[in-house]
Amino acid sequence: MPATVIIGTQWGDEGKGKVTDVFAERVDYVVRYQGGNNAGHTIVIGDERFALTLIPSGVLNPGVTPVIGNGTVVDPSVLLTEMGELTARGVDVSLMRLSANAHLIMPYHRKIDALQERFLGSGQIGTTRRGIGPAYTDKFSRHGIRVQDMFDPKIFREKLEVVLKEKNKILVKLYNQLAMDAETIAEEYLEYGTALAPYVADTSLLLAEALAAGKEVLFEGAQGTLLDIDHGTYPFVTSSSPTAGGATIGAGLGPTAIDRVVGVTKAYISRVGSGPFPTELDDAIGETMVDVGGEYGTVTGRRRRCGWLDAVALRYATRVNGLTDIALTKIDVLSEFDTLKICTAYEADGETYTELPRQHRVLYHCTPIYEELPGWRSDISQAKSIDDLPEAAVRYIERVEQIAGVPVTMVSVGPQRKATLTR
Ligand code: GDP
Ligand code: IMO
Ligand code: MG
Repeated sequence: MPATVIIGTQWGDEGKGKVTDVFAERVDYVVRYQGGNNAGHTIVIGDERFALTLIPSGVLNPGVTPVIGNGTVVDPSVLLTEMGELTARGVDVSLMRLSANAHLIMPYHRKIDALQERFLGSGQIGTTRRGIGPAYTDKFSRHGIRVQDMFDPKIFREKLEVVLKEKNKILVKLYNQLAMDAETIAEEYLEYGTALAPYVADTSLLLAEALAAGKEVLFEGAQGTLLDIDHGTYPFVTSSSPTAGGATIGAGLGPTAIDRVVGVTKAYISRVGSGPFPTELDDAIGETMVDVGGEYGTVTGRRRRCGWLDAVALRYATRVNGLTDIALTKIDVLSEFDTLKICTAYEADGETYTELPRQHRVLYHCTPIYEELPGWRSDISQAKSIDDLPEAAVRYIERVEQIAGVPVTMVSVGPQRKATLTR
């Protein structure tokens, strides 16, 4: 049975958590394949609100096996806290499985993340300061420490000693900080290892066997296409591959395992952190998007920058992810506006761009070209089916699918599980 990938088509926070939770009702496995606790996926079920950072959103559906794949970076203290909090709220986390190959976020990663940002000053990325970038840097420079290392105290201490020698030089000499103590870290992490041991598995094998047995597997992307290390607005990106291709590498399956890629698209667009944003609105409309859309970061509480939907970016996301369909979210927020705008191209230096410009510097000074669509100005958050939507809302949905070139198969009109319409 082939698998489905759910990804964000923008700069994150498109509503992937909610969409994953809805899909999870009919799947057996939900897999995180990249990123770490920089993600914040919000799910609202009845009166309860869950903000998950590392554990796949499928955990809220009884019977689903949540899998944290090899491509993620895992802060074990955060994982254990999240498991504890969910358990305290009556959520069963016992099925969760963690890849033995996933890399660990270490205390020096968090510290260096914050220091690097401070060092960059006004040029900072605006990272979540969770140590994500430095952990991936160590993975690729082959200085990383993995989940499996926690089960071999001798190897763990040896690796840590070597790495920490270098890190302490950086901390002390470059950043004027105190050195970190290897034994203190080792003791802390070996304890985490003991607590996590029952959950650790060869998750690549687990998923391959599940697919062979006809089980349904869903991949839950974190971040979004424009934050992708290769395909995003570099350097204002995260350090992993949120795009659909990342799912195969980050879970240990071949591309043939996947036959559906759902692009979660917010009906407008937001960004948290620094970097170019052609359709950003610094006006009352942007304010309304923030207020009505509740656009504050789940992880850091930062105010999200908001703007009109960007069709150039959406077409790009369709292409680089090979989208098969779209889940359009937060369309209820657009009920606030008389007229809606969609950016169909950028203009800069006398040139019109209908594709993402090859030179990303254009993104900083281009002017968006907008088309206008009529708003509907009525509450659609109680709609039970597409037929309940006003004509203007249906036209907006149809325009989105024309732009993307793939069908919009799901429309979300509120944070609740049940505020979901299928087409
Ligand atoms: P993610 O990171 O992609 O999972 O998205 P976040 O959870 O960070 O941000 C999306 C926010 O919008 C959350 O607070 C959700 O509860 C909320 N949300 C999701 N879908 C809808 C929707 O259709 N309408 C409204 N009004 N809110 C939504
Ligand atoms: P979800 O999964 C929105 C942004 C940060 C920063 C950049 C790099 O909830 O959509 P990092 O800490 O990853 O090195 O920060 O990426 N960022 C996100 N923005 N949603 C996210 O996740 C994000 N994860 C990271 O704000 O600009
Ligand atoms: Mg989020």
